[in-house]
Amino acid sequence: MANIVFHAGTVTREERAQLLKQTGATIWFTGLSGSGKSTLAMALEQVLIRHGHAAYTLDGDNVRLGLNAGPKILAETRGYGPEQADRFGLGFSAADREENVRRIGEVAKLFADAGLFALTSFISPFRKDRDAARRAHEQNRTGAVPFIEVYVNTPIETCERRDPKGLYKQARATVGAGQKAEFTGIDAPYEPPLAPELTFDASAQTTEQGVELVLKYLKDRGLLH
Ligand code: PPS
Repeated sequence: MANIVFHAGTVTREERAQLLKQTGATIWFTGLSGSGKSTLAMALEQVLIRHGHAAYTLDGDNVRLGLNAGPKILAETRGYGPEQADRFGLGFSAADREENVRRIGEVAKLFADAGLFALTSFISPFRKDRDAARRAHEQNRTGAVPFIEVYVNTPIETCERRDPKGLYKQARATVGAGQKAEFTGIDAPYEPPLAPELTFDASAQTTEQGVELVLKYLKDRGLLH
């Protein structure tokens, strides 16, 4: 922390807002694997872009291939040795998920501060980590940035039945063999939001209804015209 001070730029948020005709916000989708977070976020991104609004989706799987890559990917793509790969790579332990969500919270905040709609699609299983991301937005140095938490509350039975990547099946087999899978909803926790701005259930609502839900909320809050 020593010798590092915030350096404010000369371009204001208002100037950016005038240029983009929007003020930007983070829309934070949280929920189990296979709950439909990414489908909803990407459908929303498409509608926003097609209507002339700058938006970008930060997706769990995609970000874990780059910014928040795991040790194996870092070893393969960057040539990191085991110690360095372990030090900088992120897996699925509670501590690594916390760091994953912290980094995404910061990146989303920057995107939204720049005036975009930042859509994030991460399991983000721990309430305190999502709350910390919210706080980072509220306490943004150049002014508070809207943070909208969308709880994708699809029942685990539906997520597991869908199992698009076969990960639930794999986790059940691992746990059945007496080993740790650290898979969310199976042998790793998911803490539902207590007061999300919005809730969506992909087992009962269509993606189009989910998109409409978020668009209406954004309009009601004056974030979208
Ligand atoms: S977290 O908890 O927010 O750090 O996770 P996230 O970055 O969103 O990554 C979740 C995606 O990684 C795949 N995956 C796992 N998920 C949960 N637990 C374990 N152990 C795990 N291993 C791999 C999975 O495909 C998740 O993608 P989604 O899109 O959520 O299904």
